[in-house]
Amino acid sequence: MYTKAEISSLQTLTKAFIEHPQNIELSALRKLLKFHEYQYYVVAEPLISDYEYDLLYQQLLNLEAASPHLIVLDSPTQRVGNSLNNNFETVAHLVPMLSLENSYNAEDLNDFDRKAREGAQLDNITYCVEPKFDGASISLVYENDMLVRACTRGDGVAGEEITQNIKQIRSIPLSIPLSEYGIQQMEIRGEVIMSKKSFADFNEKLKVKQLAPLANPRNAAAGSLRMKDPKEVAERNLDAFIYHISYFILAPKAQTPELLKTHSGSLELLWNMGFRSPQKEKKVISNIQGVMDFCTQFEMERDTLPYEIDGLVIKINDFALQEKLGMTSHHPRWAIAYKFKARQATTILENVEFQVGRTGAVTPVAKLKAVAIGGVTVSSISMHNEEYIREKDLRLGDTVIIERAGDVIPQIVQSIPALRKGTETIIEFPTSCPVCNYALEKEETEAVWRCNSPECTAQVVERMIHFVSKDAMDIKSFGDANIRKLYEMGLLKNIPQIYNLDFEVIGKLEGFGKKSVDNLKTAIEASKTQPLYRLIYALGIRFVGETTAKTIASPIHHILDLENLTEEQLQSFEDVGVKVAMSIFHYFHEEKNIILIKELEALGLNMIQTNATAVDGNLSGLNFLFTGTLTQLKRSEAEAMVEARGGHIVSGVSSKLNYLVVGEEAGSKLEKAKKIVTIKIISEADFVDLINK
Ligand code: IVH
Repeated sequence: MYTKAEISSLQTLTKAFIEHPQNIELSALRKLLKFHEYQYYVVAEPLISDYEYDLLYQQLLNLEAASPHLIVLDSPTQRVGNSLNNNFETVAHLVPMLSLENSYNAEDLNDFDRKAREGAQLDNITYCVEPKFDGASISLVYENDMLVRACTRGDGVAGEEITQNIKQIRSIPLSIPLSEYGIQQMEIRGEVIMSKKSFADFNEKLKVKQLAPLANPRNAAAGSLRMKDPKEVAERNLDAFIYHISYFILAPKAQTPELLKTHSGSLELLWNMGFRSPQKEKKVISNIQGVMDFCTQFEMERDTLPYEIDGLVIKINDFALQEKLGMTSHHPRWAIAYKFKARQATTILENVEFQVGRTGAVTPVAKLKAVAIGGVTVSSISMHNEEYIREKDLRLGDTVIIERAGDVIPQIVQSIPALRKGTETIIEFPTSCPVCNYALEKEETEAVWRCNSPECTAQVVERMIHFVSKDAMDIKSFGDANIRKLYEMGLLKNIPQIYNLDFEVIGKLEGFGKKSVDNLKTAIEASKTQPLYRLIYALGIRFVGETTAKTIASPIHHILDLENLTEEQLQSFEDVGVKVAMSIFHYFHEEKNIILIKELEALGLNMIQTNATAVDGNLSGLNFLFTGTLTQLKRSEAEAMVEARGGHIVSGVSSKLNYLVVGEEAGSKLEKAKKIVTIKIISEADFVDLINK
């Protein structure tokens, strides 16, 4: 629809406008918005961030408000609509799915409140505030108690039918007792999201398969809706919040449910019907000042939520009042979104470095023009593997959209090919190791290129860095830079030498005062008594993370007991699959590894599974699992208490489990545990008693 030249000039105009928002004509602004809507909704290749789009849109509203006689019928403010990609069947929504007006500060909120009060002729308005979920919006239709249809938002008037995919989301009930509420048919709205945990787990799975991770939970959720295979949707462990009833038909003679007088009541009704509505998250607030305070507070706590939100939605609570105020063609007058600070930014991909990890995997790392996102400056992002570069079509010199979602590591979301000037260059993946020049190899089933040279210095150094790291042997004051420095100076050649350093020489080096040498000595000494699982993890066996290290350490006495286990025996451990078992087996059947372990043993490192960390050992040998929400302790605290007393945390209910500690709203684990007579099911209070015995 747009030529390359048009795209380029529209984008130049966009950037100019964003920098100087006043210098634009009404018709040019409309053209820009139409263009960006097209990119966003039709092509699904946004060229600007949501925040930048909102700036344009707001300015258009301002200009049109100042000169209403200039409003034209085809202005982006005057319609809800656009055409669609036609892969799934297109169906009309029963009620158009409008979007919300955005606000960013107290002034915007005050304006919204003032207009609403004027429209309603009231001195004060009560609002209901709830999270603005950062996912993909959907509409669902229930008829005669059954879910009959689910759609994407599409252009707001019609969406695409995705019922089969939506049925994979477990928080969406397939049937609900609508008739009990006197309702025959109901259309509702909500947001499909992926929790931070599901997102991290899904990316972890991709990582094990050596596939590139997804950029953020929103893309992960949105990208799932139109997948061909519903099974793949199920694997993503999606979730949905339902926050709006857009339409309902009552059964003959039925009365409108009492709760349907307010928005907060409707959330309660939805909750009662079995939907995940923001019933617990919502807050009814009696004036706009209270709303503002709540917004400020909530933004600070944003990262503590288990899912991503990009703001809050403020809705007039009283439905009669909502109706009185009505809507414009684009958004309701009774609601507004309060958007949090953006965490996306565009920047330039300036260079790519290829780093060699401890397993020899070569990782491309993007060097970016430094840019601030949500208070953090980002200038370097891992691109994981060659496929990541190809999939996102990244080239040197490209403008890229990057995102830092909460506590998630920054990711490149996509490149913006439309902004290319022609000087961008393809990223060539090296064919030989950038450190030792050994030819790189790629196994058929893997996505990473590897340097398999046993002498590759990068790997030796990275293995040492991993060995001393916090979750491994935790040798504090031995930072990456020190390891590199000592290695380069020939003072530290391999892992055993960590325990044989020449402190006389090191003490004379720049940056190593008496105090830091003493600290280093103490930390190295202390590491000798680390629990066995830490040593196993520190060895850097491929696919053996901290959890697997704990699992395989728990049933053995001495580390070399692992030498005697077959792959089948290894697979019988919880969460150890074929690939992991094979890797462990190979590690303990390679002579150089056994020599390394024996050398470390001779140097005085602990090789024995003891409960050395137990305070009084009263949970020694017992397996624990927590389920539901704990009210007195944080789950991580409670788990640490068990481990500190020699107990173990297991990941599922099985006959190996000794204690299931049940918090509030425990679910399937409790049901399963009830069927196994040997499991003791105890409350949080019982648990506290038990550990204080
Ligand atoms: S209310 C008429 N509530 O934000 C009702 N929307 O720009 C309009 N969203 O398209 C929607 N959380 O996808 C509403 N609690 C929430 C929401 C929410 C996220 C999304 C929704 C909508 C967009 C508005």
